[in-house]
Amino acid sequence: MSSKYEVNQEIKAGVMASMPIIGEINDVKLRDKVLDAWALTLEENEFKRMEEIPGLPVLGEYCSQPKHITAVTKMVLGMVECMNEALEEPLKLDRDLLLACAICHDLGNPYEYNIRKRKRWEEHPSKEGYPCLRHTFYGAHIALTVGLPEAVAHACACHSPEGQFVERSLGTTILYHVDDAFWKILRSAYEIS
Ligand SMILES: [Fe+2]
Repeated sequence: MSSKYEVNQEIKAGVMASMPIIGEINDVKLRDKVLDAWALTLEENEFKRMEEIPGLPVLGEYCSQPKHITAVTKMVLGMVECMNEALEEPLKLDRDLLLACAICHDLGNPYEYNIRKRKRWEEHPSKEGYPCLRHTFYGAHIALTVGLPEAVAHACACHSPEGQFVERSLGTTILYHVDDAFWKILRSAYEIS
C-alpha cells in the first residue's frame, strides 16, 4: 500500500545524520523508505531534526529520540544474537526487516509530541481526545503512506500495550520487550517514579 507523498531532502539528510544505524539496512529500497518515513513524519509535525522531538515527559529529558531508537535497535540485534547462540536453530528473522521495524517503531512520536497539536488536545480533550492518536496509530499511518512493508506498520502499531489485542509478530514481540526494558532501566537508573 502506498500513496503520493513528498519528502524534504534536507530533513531526510538530517535523519541519516541523527541515526547512522539506518546505514546498516542493506536493502537500498527499504533503507530509502525508512528515511522517507522519518522525514515525512518530522515535516508533517513541524520538526526539522529528530533531536527536536520532546518525547516522554521526564524520561525524554534523559534521552533524545534518536539515541533511544538507536539503543533499542542495537538491543534488539543483541537479543537476537544471544538467543541464536542458545538455540539449536536460529530465529527466523530477516535482519533488514528487523532493523527497519526497530528504527521505525516510534515513527508516530513527532505527532504524539507535536507541540502545537498537543496544546490544542490538552485544552479540549472532549473534542478530539488527548492525545488524539497515540504514536502507535500515527506511526502505522506513516509507514503505510511511504509504502514500507506491512510488518513495519505492525511494529509501529503493536510494539506498545495496544499490541495485546493481536498476536504480535516475532520481531515485534522482541521489540515490545526491549522498548519496555529500555524505559524501565532508565527509570531505575535515575530513580524516576
Ligand atoms: Fe520506543
